[in-house]
Amino acid sequence: MTNAADVRVWAVVPAAGIGERMASDCPKQYLELGGRSILEHALRRVAGHPRVRGVLPVIREGDPFWPGVRRRLGDLARLLPEVPGGASRQDSVGQGLAGLEPLAPEDLVLIHDAVRPCLGEAEIDAVIDAARDGHGSILAVPVADTLKRVTDGQQIEATVDRSQLWRAQTPQVFPAGPLKAALEMAREREWPATDEASIMEAAGYTVGIAPGRVDNLKITRPEDLSIARAVLESRWSG
Ligand code: C5P
Repeated sequence: MTNAADVRVWAVVPAAGIGERMASDCPKQYLELGGRSILEHALRRVAGHPRVRGVLPVIREGDPFWPGVRRRLGDLARLLPEVPGGASRQDSVGQGLAGLEPLAPEDLVLIHDAVRPCLGEAEIDAVIDAARDGHGSILAVPVADTLKRVTDGQQIEATVDRSQLWRAQTPQVFPAGPLKAALEMAREREWPATDEASIMEAAGYTVGIAPGRVDNLKITRPEDLSIARAVLESRWSG
């Protein structure tokens, strides 16, 4: 087990996606919520945490929206220079890790989606603390709805037991050494993955859960914006 006070924590925020499901004029991380882009909220939440030494944004090559956001983040001392993203989320995270070098194998790397603007300080603490055991930890929430498996013709095929099911969120926090090894394995073997924990699991590492909050929303569809706006107002205004 690593001593929580000594361990160095670095963050990567992959923000090189296009966000096809949002159907907006710009990638969804640049949509505005309360006068700030979603990406700006996400970077400020992570960079403002006292245990995070530096935050590295991963940005699509030639992204025309980033320079304006970068200027507005001029006051963030712990924001590191951005690196260009890759074709997949995994590639982008790999680029981010390379941009953080030199990393000690035991340094923790916290990965947070650019499209989760409602992350609280307590949740960051919880996931970093839980990452001291095993090979890392992710924020997650238990599934509350009853789950149905549905056919292409929209008929219910089965009700799925939800008792052991959790929804994975970010941050996801892993020691740099095992994370690099798992990403390399995933690249060589072409494992598809929608988060880093699944790559760590497939590579044989033990990943834990830190219970999170349902309002750590991932902005995916237009209706998520009004919910996120309400969460930001209720948790952080005034
Ligand atoms: O596409 P999805 O919503 O799963 O993206 C999750 C996060 O990964 C977003 O912050 C997105 O910008 C990022 N991403 C990336 N590079 C890609 C694809 C997605 O940085 N090629």
